Amino acid sequence: MTQQSELIKQAEHFVKEVLSGEASGHDWWHIERVRNTALEIARKEQADVVVCELAALLHDVADEKLNDSKEAGLEKVRIWLRGHTAESGLIDHVMEIISTMSYNGGRNPPMKTLEGQVVQDADRLDALGAIGIARTFAYSGAKGRIIHDPELSHEVLAQEDYRSNNKSAIYHFYEKLLKLKDLMNTSYARELAEQRHAFMELFLQQFYSEWTMRDQRAS
Ligand code: ADP
Ligand code: NI
Repeated sequence: MTQQSELIKQAEHFVKEVLSGEASGHDWWHIERVRNTALEIARKEQADVVVCELAALLHDVADEKLNDSKEAGLEKVRIWLRGHTAESGLIDHVMEIISTMSYNGGRNPPMKTLEGQVVQDADRLDALGAIGIARTFAYSGAKGRIIHDPELSHEVLAQEDYRSNNKSAIYHFYEKLLKLKDLMNTSYARELAEQRHAFMELFLQQFYSEWTMRDQRAS
C-alpha cells in the first residue's frame, strides 16, 4: 500500500471517530458522499485527487458545531496531519482548503486552488437535491425549528440574526440552498447543481400546493 493510500485510510478512521453519533447532518455518510463527489469532480477537472480526497474527509472535523471554536477545530486537524504525514505542502494545502471553504452567507472570498474549488463544490452539492432537502429537515428538527410558517415573510426573516431560532426549514431554501447553483466553481458541478436545483424547485412547488390544498383535483 502506498503511503498516500495509508494516510487516506487513517484519515477515514479519524473522521469516523470524531463524527460518530453526529445527527445534525454531519454524520459519516455526509463525509463519504462529499468524498466520492469530490473524487468524481477531481477526475473530470484534472485536480490532485489526494488533496481533494483528504480535504473532503477532513472538511467537517474542524466545524464550529463540533469544537470549542473554529480555531480549536483547525488546530486539532493540523496536529493530526502533522502526526501522520511529513509532506508539509500537502498539510498546508489541505488546511488552506478546510479553513476557507465554508458558506458563511456567501461572503467568503473565492477558493484559491482548483482542489479547493472541487471540494467546496462537492460539499455544496450535498446540500442540494433530495439529499439536501432531507438534511435541511433533519438539521431543523435537531434545532427544534418548525417546518414552515406562512405568516413570516422573507423580509422579516432577513432582518433577524441568521441563527435565529424562529426560522423555519423552508426558509433555509431561500437563505442558502436556492443560491448555491450560481456559486458553483467547476462546470461539472454546475451541471449537477442545476438538476438538483430543479428538483428542489419542484419540491417547493408541490409543498405549497399541498399547503393551500391546491393539489386537490375537482372530482
Ligand atoms: P455543510 O458545510 O456540511 O453543508 P452545514 O453545517 O452548513 O454543513 O449544514 C449541514 C446541513 O444542514 C446542510 O445540509 C445545510 O443546508 C443544513 N442547514 C444548515 N443551516 C441550516 C438551517 N438554518 N436550517 C436548516 N438547515 C440548515
Ligand atoms: Ni460538509
